[in-house]
Amino acid sequence: MKLKRIGILTGGGDCSGINAVIRAVTRAAIFQHQATVIGLEDGYDGLIYNRHQDLTLDAVKDILPLGGTILGTTNRGNPFDYREFDAQGKIVSSDYSPQAMETFKKLRLDALIVVGGEGTLMIAHQFYRLGIPVICIPKTIDNDLEGTDYTFGFQTAVQVATDALDRLHTTGRSHRRVMILEVMGRSAGWIALEAGIAGGANIILLPEIPYRLDRVLEKIHRREEKGNPYNVIVIAEGAREIGGSEIVRETAETTLQGVQRLGGVGHDLAAKISGSIDREVRCTMLGHTQRGGTPNSFDRVLGTRLGAFAVQAAAEGRFGHMVALKTPHLTLVPLEQLAGRVRQVPEDCELLRTAEAIGIGLGR
Ligand code: F6P
Repeated sequence: MKLKRIGILTGGGDCSGINAVIRAVTRAAIFQHQATVIGLEDGYDGLIYNRHQDLTLDAVKDILPLGGTILGTTNRGNPFDYREFDAQGKIVSSDYSPQAMETFKKLRLDALIVVGGEGTLMIAHQFYRLGIPVICIPKTIDNDLEGTDYTFGFQTAVQVATDALDRLHTTGRSHRRVMILEVMGRSAGWIALEAGIAGGANIILLPEIPYRLDRVLEKIHRREEKGNPYNVIVIAEGAREIGGSEIVRETAETTLQGVQRLGGVGHDLAAKISGSIDREVRCTMLGHTQRGGTPNSFDRVLGTRLGAFAVQAAAEGRFGHMVALKTPHLTLVPLEQLAGRVRQVPEDCELLRTAEAIGIGLGR
């Protein structure tokens, strides 16, 4: 198929490497197909409100090492369920999908490339069913998307968390403290697990394995007995004590995203541990530092590969698919196979066995 005009949008929470994708899509579309590339701004808002910019070779110059997305993003504007506050401060929902469809037609696009996480890709699937020729590119620091081995942004986030753990080790050792690092990961603990291993954590706590406080304390005491009067713990934001629940900052009903916001599980654990040991406990929340800043080389290469492959898939008319990494190859996964499924750390994950084999506590 002759690709003349390609649209691209980036939705959901940002991560490092999105600009590498935008650059690759633009360059591949121009070099391989002499196409015009239109960048829709601020996720699906760009489609709803017809906000866009031309992505020329000049426009994507020098953006490879840049964090964030030059197109902007939002993790709230779902066109099918657009949540806004009314005059009384109540959340009301509207369906703006007809406006979005209208913009797509007005821009005379032959294909729409959607870069996003689970929520953004599900919306893309809805548009695909309405007739928009969509190709998706998976993106999230949480690495929790089904169908792909890795999402770009994940490795950079793991590096940020690993650097933080390295630093917590030295200050923790000096003060003989328990140092807790809370990292992102709502329902999948990939960042905590990989950073915990890379950063030499003593205990790793994940959403997939509700932790037993007595096991955490036992691990700390055992290290004390062996002459290690300090501990470094990494905990994913979605982790919880066995029999307990996640620490929720805002419920789904009160957020414009319509999803609950987590955060605070590290401080909660600190309070629980403090009462039971004779050491000071400190907690660091890494937060959005995991999402910002320059992508590492892995994420630049992966983003570039996925971007170029998405253009090729569009040229072949393979719409309704997500491009994915099935190491060492790139492949296409039908959007209906994803259907909001999240890839958690499985029970039989080799990384869990490795962690325990080298003496890392998992709180179980
Ligand atoms: O999707 C990635 C993620 O980093 C989650 O782990 C986290 O809960 C969420 O984004 C936070 O997003 P925001 O603060 O942008 O709403």
